[in-house]
Amino acid sequence: MHPRILAPGALAAASLLLAIPASAASLSPGAPGIGDPYYPDYGNGGYDVSHYDLRLKYQPATDELEGTATILARTTQDLSSFDLDFLLDVSEVRVNGAAAAFTTSGQHELVVTPKTPLPKGTSVTVVVRYSGVPSTKSAYGFSTWHRTPDGAVAADEPEAAWWWYPSNDHPLDKATYDVSVAVPDGTQALSNGTLQSTSSKLGWTRYNWRENKPQATYLTTLAVGKFDITTGTSEGGVPVVNAYSKDLGDNDGAARASVERTGELVDWLSGYFGPYPFASAGGYVPNTTTGYALETQTRVYYSPKQFANGSNTSVVVHELAHQWYGDSVSLKGWKDIWINEGFARYAQWLWSEHEGEGTTQELADYVYASHPADDAFWTVKPGDPGPDDQFDIAVYDRGALAIQALRNEVGDDAFFAILKGWPQEHAYGNASVADFRAYAERVSGKSLAALFDTWLFQPVKPAAPAARTAAITGKAGAVARPKSWKRIAATNDVH
Ligand code: ARG
Ligand code: ZN
Repeated sequence: MHPRILAPGALAAASLLLAIPASAASLSPGAPGIGDPYYPDYGNGGYDVSHYDLRLKYQPATDELEGTATILARTTQDLSSFDLDFLLDVSEVRVNGAAAAFTTSGQHELVVTPKTPLPKGTSVTVVVRYSGVPSTKSAYGFSTWHRTPDGAVAADEPEAAWWWYPSNDHPLDKATYDVSVAVPDGTQALSNGTLQSTSSKLGWTRYNWRENKPQATYLTTLAVGKFDITTGTSEGGVPVVNAYSKDLGDNDGAARASVERTGELVDWLSGYFGPYPFASAGGYVPNTTTGYALETQTRVYYSPKQFANGSNTSVVVHELAHQWYGDSVSLKGWKDIWINEGFARYAQWLWSEHEGEGTTQELADYVYASHPADDAFWTVKPGDPGPDDQFDIAVYDRGALAIQALRNEVGDDAFFAILKGWPQEHAYGNASVADFRAYAERVSGKSLAALFDTWLFQPVKPAAPAARTAAITGKAGAVARPKSWKRIAATNDVH
């Protein structure tokens, strides 16, 4: 805090303010949403979390989860009450040591009213004690909690936290994490970052994980089950921890043959994106039945289905690319999803070129030519797709096509400088599509307004770029399908 010099009049006014009782009119409840137009009630207003300490106990046989969450935050307004996003049953809430009143509201709001109101700009410690069976809870009629034969997994986008810890559930409010989970002996518990220690007592083993870089709530993962855990260090010096369910059946070999290449692929991506931003890398493959993968920070979630057709380094490249594009640099609002998915897809194109299975330009030409102008594909605007199309294939493929168009416009030198500079420019923070355009314009020295508008914000097929008209005839099937195509496409939800 900077001491401020107040005029005598102001001093008198200040002491008058202090004399006003807690019910003063300037106090107001924190908003039930952080202000994201796609998801108005996701996240909350009035405070900013710096750290989550989650101390959990999970019983796979019954899906019973018990927890104490200690949340360190700072108020950003005078608060009479504030919300957390959460679905489990709360038994006690304390704010700065004092018992607080709490109630539920809306689809997933826990409303906390502290005994004394919280002035703007103060540090707050919130302790929430809770328990529940996550698989019995839903909001808006859905659940993203995934039980497995020997445990459970929390990994989904844009929401997964509600089922296992109370939070300010929006990427704008990133925080560090300690996740400590006790599970029955013989079962493992995984989360993000580095395993600090384990301990055993009375039939339970406790795993203590720590992520010391800011992390978005949806990138915070929990996996419980019977896993085989492998450890190593990449040539570039990044520690790697991977885990495979002991129940992967026919997919076991292909999963390992892909995910065990994490260290090599992190190093390879560092060549394009700059130094790996975190202290640990890796992935886990639980025995889930859903099809997607998710870039959970430092510890990527892979569905076993990603490996049902053999090894798949392309999906590993995609999720690892997100560690720079999405995890270290997170979106400001969910409309900015192109910065995540367009670039993770483009990394797969770079990998395809590296593997000799089709160049980025061939992939771009194929995307362009294989969707005729009346294809609904072109109605999706990757720069602002809307919540229903947030993960539409167009955000990925048209999104990567836009990146190739940017590359062709600014030239390779500027393009690769942008690709590497961006993750440094906004490391561990948040940024929007508009921020990206401004950055690309600064680095390239070109005005890119028309290019961004055409490729990201118009619901129509752009005219073929002059330099590509010879290669792209516009007739579907006229452009040969690159060898990597099917594998890349399968990165999106495999059903
Ligand atoms: N970011 C993920 C990926 O592209 C997509 C997750 C989509 N979510 C879902 N539930 N299918 O790797
Ligand atoms: Zn992705």
